[in-house]
Amino acid sequence: MSEVRELAFKAGELDAADELGELRGKFVLDEVVYLDGNSLGALPVGVPGHVDDVVRRQWGSLRIRSWGESGWWTAPERIGDRIAPLVGAAAGQIVVGDSTSVNVFKALVAAVRMAGAGAGAGAGVGVGAGRDEILVDATTFPTDGYIAGSAARMTGCSLRPVTPAEVPGALSDRTAAVLLNHVDYRTGRLHDLPGLTAAVHEAGAYAVWDLCHSAGALPVGLDEHGVDLAVGCTYKYLNGGPGSPAYLYVRRDLQPRFDSPLPGWNSHAEPFGMRPEYTPAPGALRGRVGTPDILSMLALEAALEVWDGVTIESVRAKSLALTDFFLECVAAYVPEGRVESLTPGAHTERGSQVALRCPRAGDVMKRLIENGVVGDFRHPDVLRFGFTPLYVGFGDVERAGRVLGEVLT
Ligand SMILES: Cc1ncc(COP(=O)(O)O)c(C=O)c1O
Repeated sequence: MSEVRELAFKAGELDAADELGELRGKFVLDEVVYLDGNSLGALPVGVPGHVDDVVRRQWGSLRIRSWGESGWWTAPERIGDRIAPLVGAAAGQIVVGDSTSVNVFKALVAAVRMAGAGAGAGAGVGVGAGRDEILVDATTFPTDGYIAGSAARMTGCSLRPVTPAEVPGALSDRTAAVLLNHVDYRTGRLHDLPGLTAAVHEAGAYAVWDLCHSAGALPVGLDEHGVDLAVGCTYKYLNGGPGSPAYLYVRRDLQPRFDSPLPGWNSHAEPFGMRPEYTPAPGALRGRVGTPDILSMLALEAALEVWDGVTIESVRAKSLALTDFFLECVAAYVPEGRVESLTPGAHTERGSQVALRCPRAGDVMKRLIENGVVGDFRHPDVLRFGFTPLYVGFGDVERAGRVLGEVLT
């Protein structure tokens, strides 16, 4: 058998054995191989009808009554509770709203405030005054770095960019908080959330994790690993739609000390009391700010229905099989030396994407898209391919590898 026929045959066998294969029917897709779900997830079929109902009936007919009768007011916590099991959190610790950038700001400033409070209850050991340094992932998605810089200026801290691997050596009794990414947006490298969180706690500091590239793709285990605060977006592996609201996790025992830098009226203990003085609501509600963006939020809620009956463990198993198979196809189809994988080979270090360094990557991605394979390009020389196990199949993967080989030959 030729190599092409062999890999196509293998793809067919893998697709036939794929327990998640039928979930593809829950998404609006065409014959394009869509490997950009790590940027914008595909549209779940149930969303348009639900949004239509929200607009026409809830807004159009019920109007203001929908804040109560249609559950608009409580949507941020309700949808947070729907996301919670996907990131290993018990209910009551996540609120949905705002962008990831805004939630990074809330979480990081709140973490520094907790560290400065000297109570020591959160991380368990010796937190106190004199902590004046924030560590930030030097390889982070830019927005986290910009926001961390501003948070540092506001709180009188210095900001120290370090790679995640350097974090244990950089921690000291000056460290207030550490902002890290679970999966690197460029390389797809999965960082050691349990180990790094434990190291941060050992130093008496607080760990804030950005889950944008891991939530919905692999188990996170927020509660199990004692993460303090976490944020993430919902438009990638959670398929919430363009600009769908992000979320904020505040560990239950830290909630009484969560002092939001954006204490809007929605997080007030008595929002309709219209009081001049601020009294924070109890629980995860403290992470809210202003009026929730209901249309996006309820589109997200409908999108999350595709997860009913799906375990994140099964998604992870398929994700690893997809990325393994893609690397196998690339090795078989792409001429030697034309691409270099930036994504770790070890499963323990791999998220749900494969990043290939390639000369003239922008042009190569354009050709791929013209030929029905959609990934994305990250400056200056990276081809990114995201694998969403809910709707990407092994046949897609074989085709993507084959087309990449043709483009690069
Ligand atoms: C890791 C990471 N953090 C933060 C962001 C920014 O999110 P937002 O635009 O929702 O603020 C992104 C966007 O892709 C991201 O990948």
